[in-house]
Amino acid sequence: MKAVVIQSFGSPDGLAVIDTPAPVPGPGQVTIATEAIGVGGVDAMIRRGTLAGYGIEEGHIPGSEVAGTVTAVGEGVDTSWTGKRVWAFTGRGGGYVEQALASADEILPLPTDLSVTDAVTLGSSGMVAHFALAHAHFAFGETVLVRGAAGSIGVMAVQLAARGGAGAVAVTTSSAERGDRLRALGATHVVDRSGAGADAPIDYDVILDIISGPDMPMFLDKLAPKGRMVAAGAVAGFPPPDFGAAMLNSFLKSLSFATFSADTVAPADRRAVQLDQWAAAGRGDLQAVVHESLPLEKAALAHRKMDEGEVFGRIVLTP
Ligand SMILES: NC(=O)c1ccc[n+]([C@@H]2O[C@H](COP(=O)([O-])OP(=O)(O)OC[C@H]3O[C@@H](n4cnc5c(N)ncnc54)[C@H](OP(=O)(O)O)[C@@H]3O)[C@@H](O)[C@H]2O)c1
Repeated sequence: MKAVVIQSFGSPDGLAVIDTPAPVPGPGQVTIATEAIGVGGVDAMIRRGTLAGYGIEEGHIPGSEVAGTVTAVGEGVDTSWTGKRVWAFTGRGGGYVEQALASADEILPLPTDLSVTDAVTLGSSGMVAHFALAHAHFAFGETVLVRGAAGSIGVMAVQLAARGGAGAVAVTTSSAERGDRLRALGATHVVDRSGAGADAPIDYDVILDIISGPDMPMFLDKLAPKGRMVAAGAVAGFPPPDFGAAMLNSFLKSLSFATFSADTVAPADRRAVQLDQWAAAGRGDLQAVVHESLPLEKAALAHRKMDEGEVFGRIVLTP
């Protein structure tokens, strides 16, 4: 089968298409003939080598979610899965392939009215956005800022905050055109990447931060009293060393800071939210924001587009 591997960390040129034996499912596993593969910001971080040293080495196959048809099941797996259309989480890699391996605990049947492309677009992003907002104790009427709103998680967070009755949904983005597209998804205020903008709210009850990095203390300052910042991504890397001091300097505002990873959510809870969101998409209440579909062989082009900041929502690869 065809697979895309990271031959060398760094630029998208380090991605190569190879031929490799199709996997055989082990106990508790299934194989899936992929029809759509989600390309996420985390794939780009992995390709750059950011997670080298965390068990990801050169030769790694990126991609963490796929949709397609189950072709074989391993020992202990209900054989009725064979031939079913499913969405699957493949972990930190293994997705950019024609035949993906997944744990039977990490697959979900696709509703008949959900396309494979929409499945990997809503897929884990919508679920991460949901639980990150919940982790921030987001409540009806509150003012929310989504930092990094134009990415795959951000476009879902904007829609969920608007649907959840936020008093305002502000977004950081890099252009007016992207801002307009975010307004169409439910954003009420568009600010630049530094948080500045003519109609920027004075402060926020919740900041959902997918970017992190050196600007974090600046955004901490934008929290209202009892405001909560949740870091759910690290597109711009680590905060500066004085982030803790900035937090304590805000002592009188009773601020909270938390990180959030979907790894800490029970699989059954993740699945329940995904099924709920897919049903909402079927009713037209949630939108899967697909930037573009490209053939699997064009994975390097997909990554180039991500690095160049062109992508709005999610790029999908099709074998
Ligand atoms: N918490 C979890 O469980 C979980 C699960 C999966 C992934 N993640 C994390 O989520 C992140 C990726 O999310 P994603 O795919 O939604 O994001 P993304 O597509 O990589 O980036 C989102 C947006 O951020 C803006 N941006 C890019 N670089 C920036 C910078 N230096 N400063 C400010 N804004 C910048 C860009 O929009 P504009 O040009 O419009 O500003 C971009 O479209 C990764 O850090 C990954 O590890 C977390």
